Amino acid sequence: MSTSSIPTPGYFSRHIFFCLNERDNGQDCCAQHGAQAAFDRCKALVKEAGLAGPGQVRVNKAGCLDRCAAGPVAVVYPEGTWYSYVDSSDIDEIVESHLKNGKVVERLLTPAELGR
Ligand code: FES
Repeated sequence: MSTSSIPTPGYFSRHIFFCLNERDNGQDCCAQHGAQAAFDRCKALVKEAGLAGPGQVRVNKAGCLDRCAAGPVAVVYPEGTWYSYVDSSDIDEIVESHLKNGKVVERLLTPAELGR
């Protein structure tokens, strides 16, 4: 393994992380609002579109992203764009617009003031 300090290019061009957190104490969480289905759909669409893999897009599971009040949420890096989605058509739009074409879906942006 190289010990060079020269920065390496990002392995993926974009990462989208879906909060899949599930709480067993009855408190609200993204898992209660279709997060797993949204993750599965996003993963399938990215694969179908040929966007998955090195140099492209990676769809990842995450635990609580600490913005539960805005859930269900997903965040896209490197832009750090937060989305609050509702249904499968929202996921379709995030994939087509942002993950495929780099265009933020303004209508789904998580309100800045919403945190935990
Ligand atoms: S439970 Fe999803 S952000 Fe906290």
